[in-house]
Amino acid sequence: MLFANDFTRRLGLDHPLVQAPMAGETSTVPLSLEASKAGALGSLGAAYFTPAKLRDSIRAMRAGTDRSFAVNLFIPVPWGRDPAREAAYANEIARAHQALGLEPPQPPAQIEESFEAQMQVVLEEAPPVFSSTFGAPDADLVTALQRRNIYVIGTATTVAEALVLKQRGVDAIIAQGAEAGGHRGSFLKPFSQSMIGTMALVPQIVDATGLPVLAAGGIGDGRGVAAALCLGASAAALGTAFLLSPESGASAAYRAALTSPAQTETTITRAFSGRPARGLRNDFLERLEGREEIIPDYPIPNAWSRPMRQAAARQGEAGYLSLWAGQAAAMTKPEPVATIVARVMAQAKAVLGEP
Ligand SMILES: Cc1cc2nc3c(=O)[nH]c(=O)nc-3n(C[C@H](O)[C@H](O)[C@H](O)COP(=O)(O)O)c2cc1C
Repeated sequence: MLFANDFTRRLGLDHPLVQAPMAGETSTVPLSLEASKAGALGSLGAAYFTPAKLRDSIRAMRAGTDRSFAVNLFIPVPWGRDPAREAAYANEIARAHQALGLEPPQPPAQIEESFEAQMQVVLEEAPPVFSSTFGAPDADLVTALQRRNIYVIGTATTVAEALVLKQRGVDAIIAQGAEAGGHRGSFLKPFSQSMIGTMALVPQIVDATGLPVLAAGGIGDGRGVAAALCLGASAAALGTAFLLSPESGASAAYRAALTSPAQTETTITRAFSGRPARGLRNDFLERLEGREEIIPDYPIPNAWSRPMRQAAARQGEAGYLSLWAGQAAAMTKPEPVATIVARVMAQAKAVLGEP
């Protein structure tokens, strides 16, 4: 009963399991494709994809499977420029470039992808599921997606955000607890006032909205999936648990950091993107710790730090990479996606005594 519900039936899933969207180097077509083929919901973390890459990726997913998959984008957030702050931050990036043997950094030509252009592709290509984070999609956009038979999922980190998403007409809600790796979706209150754990958040959003809820944040194996289902979730969404799969795009340095016994502690930082995100500690993050005043608005730092992060990945230098990971990071295993799905679901079923 817990394992098959309205959500899994509507999307034709074998398992109440979502491979959570993870924008950046991590997000590859094979990662999401293998998750969907294994009967979970694969999700393309497409926020940094150009419209052309987004279209190609949706087509590659469709070519690889008839099963459901999701495309995830960031709802744009307002930001402003502060030249003094940006210069101070650029100075830190310049130091990192020097350490990595790179040319001095140049001001980024583009700060972020055009959400409108990305959405145009989503509407044209009509993937089975669209999910979003960092805000609530307009009601008109939700209707336009649903008219194309696209199932719409929003991300909430508080009950109040879940109620806004319900008002906008979404079909389901990701309840994303404070344990989650990477950026979180908080959009009503500051991040520091939206730090509710998954265990407390999920049942409250289930009760408040009556919509299918997908539990995300700190779920490391089948015991966590079972717990999420017991709390009333229709599925569990795991991100960090998939990072070490061969299908993920995580670099060798990122993988090494994730498997290092010394690296189990996670921290929330604005150092890389300007928006708080949870990851493993490293040199760059520590250098900016306690220096909030020099970090520009998201997404300006994301654009400035990209060449540094890309070079660090190429050079195997974890000190300058964003090492996003959730609080259950140490439970992550280097297995193929299909093995992770099978292992986690077998364990969840054993815990709950389901055949
Ligand atoms: C590397 C990484 C990148 C992420 N990028 C996104 C993203 O693009 N969109 C999104 O909605 N959530 C993003 N998240 C959050 C995940 O979708 C998910 O909520 C989270 O991973 C769940 O917590 P866990 O990492 O403890 O499993 C990201 C998480 C990680 C670890």
